[in-house]
Amino acid sequence: MGELDSAFIQDIEHRPNLKSTEPVGDGIPTIDLSALTIADTQKLASEIGLACQEWGFFQIINHGVPLKLQRKVEKVAKEFFELPSEEKRKVKRNEVNPLGYYDCEHTKNVRDWKELFDFLVKDGIVIPASPEPDDKGVRTITNQWPQYPPEFREVFQEYAKQVEKLAFKLLELIALSLGLPENRFSGYFNGHTTSIRINYYPPCPFPHLALGVGRHKDPGVLTILAQDDVAGLQVKRKSDGEWITVKPTPNAYIVNVGDVFQVWSNEKYQSVEHRVVVNTVKERMSIPFFFHPGTHVMVKPVEELLNGENRPKYKEYNWGKFFVNRSRSDFKKLEVENVQIEHLRL
Ligand code: OGA
Ligand code: NI
Repeated sequence: MGELDSAFIQDIEHRPNLKSTEPVGDGIPTIDLSALTIADTQKLASEIGLACQEWGFFQIINHGVPLKLQRKVEKVAKEFFELPSEEKRKVKRNEVNPLGYYDCEHTKNVRDWKELFDFLVKDGIVIPASPEPDDKGVRTITNQWPQYPPEFREVFQEYAKQVEKLAFKLLELIALSLGLPENRFSGYFNGHTTSIRINYYPPCPFPHLALGVGRHKDPGVLTILAQDDVAGLQVKRKSDGEWITVKPTPNAYIVNVGDVFQVWSNEKYQSVEHRVVVNTVKERMSIPFFFHPGTHVMVKPVEELLNGENRPKYKEYNWGKFFVNRSRSDFKKLEVENVQIEHLRL
């Protein structure tokens, strides 16, 4: 079986305990969005609010994205990853373009056992040229689409539209759950920097040493993730810090709040650590939609939620600069820890 390249090896304290990767039935809450059409929006918002507070994660069912589209997306994604490497590398990410295919991702400077494909929901966004606060330069980033499978682009653009609608709906429900007007956050998404990623985790002969994605928190507002029927996602349970494997539920999406919501809500809703374990036999695929604000947005705790007892816990920061700073590690392994939301805590 050979040896594992040391770039993939997790420190001992971050290696998974493979004896406890059975999915836990009563794990993250499940929320049925079909209630939306029955007008009981406030009740739904409270359920979501409780899930955000207790877990930072929940699953949604009856979310309104057509199942036929979901199946198409899975099919073309799989066809893409099954192409020969030379074909996939034609749309490879590089130092100039952070979008497209990649097979050398690092999380916290350890290499992830996976391949991925990234694209923007709104193509051609203008981002800061560098994370330096004084650098006013900008550059435009654009999607790279593969030639095969031929329907890849069309299918994913339709998927992006559908999940974007769902994301705005969830944003409204979360605003309501915080006692805010439902459109409180909508204005932050003009020219939003949302992206969709397809994660492909090949079987791994060393699942006790490597991870599909190392422990991390998502930096954005919300993540809406589709996963296939192979378990692998683990969430760090807030109540006791245990790593809990999320049980795949057919046709459900997994939603989690990211760092931006942690700041907006002044930590009422915390962005929770998660990671992906791999296995020796089955490949796994997941498709996260990373809902991100516009680059101009200054992120800070929402004033309406603050008072004498609840003082702001975070410094204001610019989303565009934070986003670019975090993406620095996308192309190469850094020698130092990348910026984390904790660094902005007051
Ligand atoms: C991610 C992530 C989880 C998964 O890509 O940020 O957490 O199940 N993925 O693939
Ligand atoms: Ni994540």
